[in-house]
Amino acid sequence: MRTKIIAGNWKMNKTLEEAKALTAELISMASEIKGDAKMVLCVPFPYLLSTKDQLGKSRIQVGAQNCSEQDSGAYTGEVSALMIKSIGIPYVILGHSERRQFFKEDGKLLAIKVDKALGNDLTPIFCCGEPLEIREKGTHEVLVRKQVEESLFHLSAESVKKVVIAYEPVWAIGTGKTASSQQAQDMHAVIRKQLAAKYGDGVAQQIPILYGGSVKPDNAKELFSCPDVDGGLVGGASLKAKDFIDIVKGA
Ligand code: PGA
Repeated sequence: MRTKIIAGNWKMNKTLEEAKALTAELISMASEIKGDAKMVLCVPFPYLLSTKDQLGKSRIQVGAQNCSEQDSGAYTGEVSALMIKSIGIPYVILGHSERRQFFKEDGKLLAIKVDKALGNDLTPIFCCGEPLEIREKGTHEVLVRKQVEESLFHLSAESVKKVVIAYEPVWAIGTGKTASSQQAQDMHAVIRKQLAAKYGDGVAQQIPILYGGSVKPDNAKELFSCPDVDGGLVGGASLKAKDFIDIVKGA
């Protein structure tokens, strides 16, 4: 059985004061949660350390939203995987569709970022997913398989087991339009089958595949009950403590 993971992606939201208030609410609400679902808050860089300190011994963990493909040096404004590791943060989102769209990150670059993350003992939450026009054309499986292959298939079986994949159809992100649980399950099964063909079923069964795209308290339970959906990457709803906790309860 794969443990469910619910990761909140705060994106570029909240001041420090607001971040602290949200974290405080989450800490108190998380204590009522039964079950073993993992909770992760992927917060903006300036709040990584304070959020981690504030969480203390709470069962909630912290993640970054990106890292550089470079190790160190003259790359003004960038943050390396080693820096993230050095402050004790275990997770990093890579290849979010907003990074692909606005910062032109492609599969080759993301393969390097995945290496940097794994090389620094960070767990990458590697995002893939198709835009609306691709879904309408019916080539979404081809595209998502390509995204997975380009950025992950250079990894050894030992390494790929340390990756978390997030399938996030771009048309469902921030739109309030969720993939149906059938659409989510179908794509997750395609990804798992692809992993099994490359690495064997034993490895494929160990890799968590999260769904992202307008996950809300009222659709979380149905999505998370699909056999290949191992939790969620949650944007908008992770900015409200009660919504996020209700989503975790759905797992
Ligand atoms: P959303 O965002 O839940 O607001 O759709 C998900 C994401 O971008 O990870």
